Amino acid sequence: MTGKDKMLLKPTYLGPYTLANHIVMAPLTRCRAGAGNVPQAMNADYYAERASAGLIITEATQVSPQGVGYPMTPGIHTPEQVEGWKKVTKAVHDKDGRIFLQLWHVGRISHSSLQEDGGLPVSASAIRPRGNATTAAGPKPFETPRALKTNEIPGIVGQFRRAAENALMAGFDGVEIHAANGYLLDQFLRDNTNFRTDGYGGSRKNRMRLLSEVTEAVTDIWGGDRVGVRLSPVNTFNDISDTDPEATFSYVAWELNRFNLAYLHVVEHDMTGGKDSAGFNTQAIRDNFAGPYIANGGYDQARAEAALASGVADLVSFGVPFIANPDLAERFAAGAPLNDADRDTFYGGDEKGYTDYPVLSSHGANCLAEGCHNYL
Ligand code: PHB
Repeated sequence: MTGKDKMLLKPTYLGPYTLANHIVMAPLTRCRAGAGNVPQAMNADYYAERASAGLIITEATQVSPQGVGYPMTPGIHTPEQVEGWKKVTKAVHDKDGRIFLQLWHVGRISHSSLQEDGGLPVSASAIRPRGNATTAAGPKPFETPRALKTNEIPGIVGQFRRAAENALMAGFDGVEIHAANGYLLDQFLRDNTNFRTDGYGGSRKNRMRLLSEVTEAVTDIWGGDRVGVRLSPVNTFNDISDTDPEATFSYVAWELNRFNLAYLHVVEHDMTGGKDSAGFNTQAIRDNFAGPYIANGGYDQARAEAALASGVADLVSFGVPFIANPDLAERFAAGAPLNDADRDTFYGGDEKGYTDYPVLSSHGANCLAEGCHNYL
């Protein structure tokens, strides 16, 4: 690879921002919020350690008590949560990083035991996902969700709107609307979960109506250029699928153009690894979207550089590599080996596997100083 091909570490623009590089930290659920699903000091440390990413997108963050799907995931719907997130945004900004909050409603990927009123989770239609919900008492089979009534939809849009307002108060640089991975907005988009007969089901236009209304509300608060949308056309995680994902998501990408978004963020693979997405043309989605495209899904440095050099992506986001390598950008720059991620500490727990991954030493090779991790 020639120097000219190396774009990953060069600065770039996104919306009104100059980013230090083309490296994005993907949203990563870590289940380490404090009581009341409030971000705590440890979470601020974690994000600050990763501030050399061009852009951090936070872990998925519920927009309302109804939107929660797992214990210990943070929210953005109470004053305490806003205060908690202020510590995170300050810590990242103190290190000259940029950070967007991911706005999340899980829809049917919840459980009555996680709901404030003990009621059923909500979705586009009353279709029970295969698999288990993650409850405080361990895994429990998913329940059949309750289909949202048409007159409840403005309330869902309102949840995203208030969360977007709260994110602004918390000092974020922008927000990402989570319309991927089988959660609520994706449950409306795809045709194995949406059998509605009102204006929110049937045609692609109708299935996209909720995402359009949410995007309208969120861009009202933030302006389009500080809002991203995340999609996952071929992901079957959370028991979701579509009979024609290329047509559905090309349509969605095209329709999103009217919001002049900061970016479209696409999970290009199937997170379950179970389904062959061969034959699916990610480029069709990219070609239908006029703004910046963030590619995601098992990229390493070489593949990311190739995607940037050929123009098939404008930025690349990394998930698991960022769990284990807070200084991923520095490691890419140095051509240094990466730490391995410990899967046992991905979800829940304390600092172990969270804020204790070693960074490259500035002491030089073969440093023997106590506590010095030199991987060069
Ligand atoms: C997860 O908890 O495994 C998870 C959460 C949000 C996502 C994807 C996966 O978008």
